[in-house]
Amino acid sequence: MNETSAFPAERSSRQSARGVLVWDFPVRVFHWLLALNFAIAWITAESETWRLVHVIAGYSVAALVAFRLLWGLVGTRHARFGNFVRGPRAALAYLKDSLRGQHPRHAGHNPAGALAIVGLLALAALTAASGWAFYNELGGEWLGELHEVLANAMLGLVLLHLAAVLVTSVLARDNLVKAMWTGRKQAVERQDGIKRPWRGIGVVLLVAVLGLWWFQWTDAGNTVGLPSASRLAGERHHHDED
Ligand code: HEM
Ligand code: HEM
Repeated sequence: MNETSAFPAERSSRQSARGVLVWDFPVRVFHWLLALNFAIAWITAESETWRLVHVIAGYSVAALVAFRLLWGLVGTRHARFGNFVRGPRAALAYLKDSLRGQHPRHAGHNPAGALAIVGLLALAALTAASGWAFYNELGGEWLGELHEVLANAMLGLVLLHLAAVLVTSVLARDNLVKAMWTGRKQAVERQDGIKRPWRGIGVVLLVAVLGLWWFQWTDAGNTVGLPSASRLAGERHHHDED
């Protein structure tokens, strides 16, 4: 991988000691904002008092998934779905190889991880959509229950995702968590990396999500589909009376 040479390549071998850039900035901003907003939605799920925060975190999850779907079509090499999403058969083959002690390295996502990612994105979208539909009274109690079941399924997949990331980091001898933060992986050939981090797009995504929080927080009453502050207060009052 990172061959060390005493000759002219020295400078570039030092560069590769930093690792090879595989995750662009938008993917990393998306990932950590998704994890943060999912955690916020989860922590605030049961409380009437925190319902506005729950709803805004849920909408942020939906907006992040929408961005990721778009970026999966036009983004950089390892962000594009066409380059990493494989069927269940490829995922099984990969898992079998891993169990046999062979661990094929992947510059981007491995086929099993890719399947989990598709599941996480789908569950995130469905959880947010069912929460929105229930909140806007588009169905009965069953929608609330469906929302909870979907959220629980997503939590299950997130826990599996965390376990898989840790196990793969050990097997591939590459700190994948650090890679999702810095964008760089160690055990990757330089030609498999990406050239540009696309920082501007990541900054736009960050500002858009912060803006979503700000506008919905300050102007909750006027935005379509959002609970108004008075509605929330009314609900809390109603709840207190129960
Ligand atoms: C809590 C909710 C979380 C969700 C919903 C989630 C979801 C995702 C998704 C959708 C991806 C694909 C990234 C992309 O290509 O866009 C991903 C990748 C990844 N996530 Fe998470 N994640 C969560 C938490 C975490 C946490 C807490 C960690 C670290 C401890 C983590 C570590 C990683 C890593 C290392 C990858 C890249 C895996 C690879 O190398 O193929 N995730 N995650
Ligand atoms: C994708 C992120 C989301 C997650 C992980 C999530 C998670 C949850 C969970 C676990 C519950 C059940 C709480 C309990 O034990 O009673 C819940 C309830 C609820 N959520 Fe979400 N939610 C999300 C998004 C949303 C959105 C976008 C909305 C509305 C626009 C929403 C509105 C609600 C409402 C109104 C309840 C109460 C349901 C009831 O009383 O039966 N959620 N959420």
